[in-house]
This record gives sequence, C-alpha cells and structure tokens, in this order.
Amino acid sequence: CNFLVEKDRKAICDILVNALQRLEYRGYDSAGIGIDGDHEGEILLFKQVGKVAALRKLIDSSDVDMNKSFFAQCSIAHTRWATHGQPSPVNCHPLRSDKNNEFIVVHNGIVTNSGELRQVLQKRGYVFESETDTEAVAVLCKYVWDSQPSQRLTFTTLVKAVIKELEGSFAFVFKSVHFPNEVVTARRGSPLLIGVKTDKKLKVDFVDVELTQEQEIKFGGTSSGPVSSAASGMLAPPTLSQSKIERQQSRAFLSDDGMPQPIEFFIASDASAVIEHTKRVLYLEDDDIAHIAEGELHIHRLRRDDNISAVRAIETLEIELAEIMKGKFDHFMQKEIYEQPESVVNTMRGRVNFDTRKITLGGLRSYLNVIRRCRRIVFSACGTSYHSCLATRAIFEELTEIPVSVELASDFLDRKTPIFRDDVCVFVSQSGETADTILAMRYCLERGALCVGVVNTVGSTISRESHCGIHINAGPEIGVASTKAYTSQYIALIMMAIQLSEDRISLTERRNQIIDALHELPGQIQKVLATDHLLQQFAKNTLANSRSLLIMGRGFQYATCLEGALKIKEISYMHSEGILAGELKHGPLALIDENMPVIIIMTRDSLYPKVQSALSQVTARKGQPIIICNDDDEYIESNMKTIRVPRTIDCLQGILNIIPLQLLSYHLAILNGFDVDFPRNLAKSVTVE
Ligand code: G6P
Repeated sequence: CNFLVEKDRKAICDILVNALQRLEYRGYDSAGIGIDGDHEGEILLFKQVGKVAALRKLIDSSDVDMNKSFFAQCSIAHTRWATHGQPSPVNCHPLRSDKNNEFIVVHNGIVTNSGELRQVLQKRGYVFESETDTEAVAVLCKYVWDSQPSQRLTFTTLVKAVIKELEGSFAFVFKSVHFPNEVVTARRGSPLLIGVKTDKKLKVDFVDVELTQEQEIKFGGTSSGPVSSAASGMLAPPTLSQSKIERQQSRAFLSDDGMPQPIEFFIASDASAVIEHTKRVLYLEDDDIAHIAEGELHIHRLRRDDNISAVRAIETLEIELAEIMKGKFDHFMQKEIYEQPESVVNTMRGRVNFDTRKITLGGLRSYLNVIRRCRRIVFSACGTSYHSCLATRAIFEELTEIPVSVELASDFLDRKTPIFRDDVCVFVSQSGETADTILAMRYCLERGALCVGVVNTVGSTISRESHCGIHINAGPEIGVASTKAYTSQYIALIMMAIQLSEDRISLTERRNQIIDALHELPGQIQKVLATDHLLQQFAKNTLANSRSLLIMGRGFQYATCLEGALKIKEISYMHSEGILAGELKHGPLALIDENMPVIIIMTRDSLYPKVQSALSQVTARKGQPIIICNDDDEYIESNMKTIRVPRTIDCLQGILNIIPLQLLSYHLAILNGFDVDFPRNLAKSVTVE
C-alpha cells in the first residue's frame, strides 16, 4: 500500500512479484495478484499456474497500461500451495466474490467450515467458481455488503463480521472496489506482519490496539459462534448495531503538524518478502484486524482479550537481504550446506565461553531451575526438526538425568498425550510456524506445562507464544530441505542440556569434553565440506541410477540415518530408509543383496563393535556397503568404499556425519535434473495441519 508516494503500475507489479518470489519456498503451485484498474472501482486480477516466474510473464505480456501512475493504492498478491482444489488459475488467489471482483482476498491457512458457508451462500443465490475454501470468505464479504446500507459500513466492520463466522486458521488480506485505497488484514493461527516504510523518522514505535469497533454486525442475532454451529444452519441477514466504544487512542503515522506524510505498508506472512523495502515491522496477534487507509494503520481486536497486550511494537529486523540471496551458489540448499561452519558459530556466539567452559543461554535464564525440577522433558517437532530432537535425546538424558520423550507433533496431538504442569515441553522448529508444532505447543500451554521454543525465525509464532526459549541464529533458511537449521538445532539442544546439568559435579569432565569439541567443530565441518568433489563422484558413479538406498547406524547415529534418508527422498525422489542397525535382523536384512545400495554409519563410539557386526551381516549377504567412518579409522578394510569424516566426541559426531549425506542428496538431485530448492509437492513451512 502506498500513500502520497507515486508509483506506476509496473513498479507496483514488480514489488508484488518480487515479494512472491521470496515466498516461493512456502509453496509454489500457482500465483496471482490483484491491482487497481484504470477506472475507479475496477480491480484487475492476474493469475497463473506454476512458479512465480510464470505469473511475471503473464503480466508482462498483458496489454494493460504499465505506466499509469498512482499516488495512493493498495494491491495484494499470493503464492499458493494447494490444500483445497487442484492448482489452476481459477483456484489461484486472489479469490473473488463475483465476476466484478467486488471483494478479493488472499489467504494462508484453512477455513474448516467453508463447506457449510458455501452451501448457505449458494442457497441465497451466490455463485462459486473455484473449489477453494477461501472463495467462501470472499463471497461472504459480498453477502454482508449486499445486506447492508452501504454508506454506514466500514471495511473493518465488514471484515470483522466475516471473520467471526470462520473456523480454522488464517491470515487474510482483503481488497474491495467499494473501499478504494484501503486494505484490511486479519490473522488467526497463521503468521502475519506489517512492514512500515516512511522517509521521515517514525514518530511512534508502536501501534495501539482499538479494543472494539464502534459498529458491529450481527448475523440474525447470533453474535457469537460461527455460522456452521448456528442451530438453523442458515445465515440470517446481518444487522448493523452500535456497540460501546472502548478504544484506546490509536496511533497513526502522522507528521508533527498532524498532516499525512508519504508512507508505504507491506503486509506479508514472512519477513523475507518485505526486507528489501523496510526493516521496521510489527507482528499481528491472533484475532487482530488491521485496517490501512489514507496512510494510517489501525489495529482492532475481534473480541476483547485482557491477556493480549493492547500495543503492537514496531521492531527492527536484523536480517540483511544478502542473507536471503543465493550469492555465488547455484542453489539455496547448497549455500546453506556451505554456511554451516559459520551458522554453528552463530548458534554458539555469546553463549559458549570456551575459556571458562561455561554455557549461558539468556532465553532460559529465569526458567533453568523450573526445568531442572521437572519430572520429564517432552520434545515435539516435525520433519528435520524432529530428527534434531532424536539426535540429542541420549545426551540430554545423560546430562540432565531427566527422562526425555521425543514426539512427532502431529502424532502427539492425535494421541492426546497426557501432559502435566510439572512437564517441560520443548518445541523445535526452524520456521516457528509449522502448524502441527504450534498446535502441540498450544495444547501443552493449556495444560499448564512450561513451553520452551527452539526456533530459527525471530518473531515467529512459536518464539512469541512459548514461555522461554533459544533462537538458534542460523540465519534465514530458504531451501525447502533443511540443512543448516538441523546442525544449529542440534547444537542449541546440546547447549541447553549442558547448561541444565551445570550443577552436577560428577559430569563436569563430560561437559568440558563436549565444550572443547564444540570449539573444534566449525573447522571439522570445513574439512567435511572440502570432500564435496568426492561425494559428487560417489553420487555419480555409485548411486545416481539406484532406485532405493538404505542408511544404517545405531545409537547417536540413528537420527543421522533418518535425517540422511529424509534429505535423499525429499530432493532426489529416491526411495530411502533410515534403519536402526539393531533392527537389521528383524526385517531389513531381507532387502540386502548385491544390488541394494547401503550406507553404514560406523564412526567410532561405544557402539562401534555392534555396528561392525551389522556390517558383517550385510557383506555376508553380498551387500556392497558404503561406510561413513572416521578419517583415522584403520580397521576398515581397504577394499571397502568409504566416506571419511573427522572424529569428534560421540554426541557431536552426528553433526559431521550428516553433512556428507546432505551433499550426496544435493548431487543426486542435480544429477537427475531436479529443482533442489523447490522439490515437488513440498513446502518449506507447512502452516496448515
Ligand atoms: C517442512 C519442511 C522440512 C521441515 C519441516 C518442519 O516439512 O519441508 O524441511 O523440517 O517442515 O519445519 P520447521 O520449520 O517446524 O522446522
């Protein structure tokens, strides 16, 4: 949205399309934009299936006047990852209320009662063109508009009435021909932030929240509860009523003399979309409704909630655009693998004192004793983040002497796992926005457990809603396949375990050894990366044409097997399975023959003899294993294929061992011509259940 700032249509489209490109990692099956037309009350929609580049082409080839300039305008855009309805132009966002585009909306999340809403609206004569849940929201806007004397209705009042009828999770931005140069945005459960850009120094660094609106729309007397739960199942005509005004003074961005000043607002679900325009952002809370018009931003609450602060602070982002660009690398994933010597240092920076061998995690400071006294620790996460929990469980238990369970967030919720006030629940998530992990956290918050977030994304939902936590500080991760976040999560969890155990004298030696090993780690990661050319050869000569790959190990390395197998299947689409070597005889051995590629992780630790015996069983069945072993291991027979990595302490070895597997998966994907950063059917951040 720009006010008193001149922009031509081309510039507006470029801003939107570039922002979508930065968000492609969250989903990329289709994309669209909604912008002002040449005449007042006209909205133009451009939608295209495929990646954002295809949308750019469509816009470039259209015959609209790209030079037309606007001093004030609001436009919206969306990149989609289908949850309801096939990728197609008609299902692509912005969704519209009708053929005149009276109301258009972009949506992240799922409206779970859209089926009922659709039925009710269809009965009232409204026509739907897509299969999406979002369209019901756009049509509901029109229904409210059509039922009201329009001169009395504000855009916020209308959206508020619509939101009240919705179940599910969402972040929306609404635009309408009836409210030119205005947008309304709202969230519940899905992330949303607003960037503010103005040449003058911002007069305020917060925005007050208006607690209620002066007008309220009620559907047939049911002011609370969504339509689907209304007894009649019918959406009764809405009525407009005055309600008590209970607002704080709302701050807008005005100059000293109270005159409007040039200003732009950027609404997005992720900071990466706004960072090139401004670093000043505010994060909306669930049930916030923000209205932007005439250069002012006003935030309203859907309902009064005394537990939610009435102020939204404007924060300054600390990431640089360069950090989210590819630099000299061909792919973000490759860049992120290569960043690991630095990203692990950033995770430890200011926290590990290698001289005094002391670890201080500021984000846990006030809670350490509560955690030490808890009866168990429950880790909950998805995907790669789940593997980092598995990788560190043993050392956590060893150092803290507290039982630790590791849960896949979705399964944890499915089972309605019992959680008690004296449990400590740790939620690990790169994005801090994974829906299952957030829901698991809210479930634990409701049950009174202490909730700790371990996240990469500052300002994300998990970092804001947890009681305390650790930012892993790995820097933005764009590649869908997580790499540097894994190694940083791994280190963050180990640091946490060390700090929790610092009062256990008997474990001092063990802790000191780990801290010393952490010091060596960045250099050792560098050494593993230096073997990349050998791994590329391996990928080409040994694995590129295989259809399947087993990765086997035990103890600390079981998580490495699972994470390595996940990397390979995610981006090279090769079937790959991580196998606990102890389970070999209970099934997987049946798969072994001379044609089945097997990687065995056999770095030195107390379980080495047991893995040796798994190796013998594989070779006895004519298996041709590739062995990941330490670079000083002389016992591996010289005729064996090996990938050699430096040796570190047992509980950190998984960090060095995963890197060759990350690189192998990268090369396998490239050799097969796959899009490494955008693997089919997958998204970086899964913000729906
Ligand atoms: C998606 C991504 C994975 C990631 C998982 C959990 O599936 O593709 O790379 O590990 O989500 O994401 P989180 O942001 O919670 O770590």
